[in-house]
Amino acid sequence: MIVTRSIKKTSQICARCNSKDKTIGFVPTMGALHEGHMSLVKRARKECGFVVVSIFLNPIQFGPSEDLARYPRNFKKDEKLLKASGADLLFYPEASAMYPQGFSTYVEEFDLSKELCGKSRPGHFRGVCTVLAKLFNIVKPDIAYFGQKDYQQTQIVKKMVRDLNYDIRIKMLSTIREKDKLAMSSRNTYLSLKERKESSCLYRALIFAKELIRKGERDPKKVIAKMRGVVKSEKTTKIDYIGIVNADSLERINKIKGRILITVAVYVGKARLIDNIVLHVKK
Ligand code: PAJ
Repeated sequence: MIVTRSIKKTSQICARCNSKDKTIGFVPTMGALHEGHMSLVKRARKECGFVVVSIFLNPIQFGPSEDLARYPRNFKKDEKLLKASGADLLFYPEASAMYPQGFSTYVEEFDLSKELCGKSRPGHFRGVCTVLAKLFNIVKPDIAYFGQKDYQQTQIVKKMVRDLNYDIRIKMLSTIREKDKLAMSSRNTYLSLKERKESSCLYRALIFAKELIRKGERDPKKVIAKMRGVVKSEKTTKIDYIGIVNADSLERINKIKGRILITVAVYVGKARLIDNIVLHVKK
């Protein structure tokens, strides 16, 4: 595996692959890798001739009061995992190279970013889109892999790729979970033992909602109220949002019907955790 911080070297190597007609698969990450990230790398390995993984803790997608400073970092372990997975290139640029002094161009999506995490974390998706626009230009992948855990992010990336004519296929892979169904996340390391136990309430709330809908409930307000009850029954939780939205437009719906996204963002202690499920509701 080639390991490099250099933007120039990365784009030269990737350009050579492109000229040889090797399919480039790309997995952008912020490091502190877990099985969720690795599932994307494994899929890329299966489907592509050359697999690029980036590790870049992107400062511009964190708000001033968010967790950039204490976000987990474990480069040596990440590098080992990636080597074992058969990735071909690990790109881990420096922040000063990605955002040199005077950097002043940003990419922003204005529709799908309005609600949910976009509302709770102003500027977050602008930071995500900007860094991905840059990484896509450096790597020029054929396929880029994203997780359903960050459903809104993946939808926004798909939209950005369409709107800006990037010739990249965006694939969304399912959420990898712990034994108690907590979605794997680098942020889970913030949890104390007690909080870790309580954090399974995100998934429990989602499954409770699924069951209510299966039994015929079609009023999103009623479902959300019951989900709140599930989350609030745990002491260290604070709900950021619970949403039931159209899975394509991400707009709030008045009646549960069609392809819907049920999504939750909850603080468990200091950790802000998110999770979601997609349902197809016929009638
Ligand atoms: P990060 O949180 O490191 O996640 C990198 C990728 O791994 C994302 O596509 C995310 O959806 C996916 N992922 C995380 N947890 C997962 C899980 N439990 N199961 C499956 N996939 C999972 O998301 C980011 O980084 C950044 O915003 C980034 C896209 C790299 C831009 O900076």
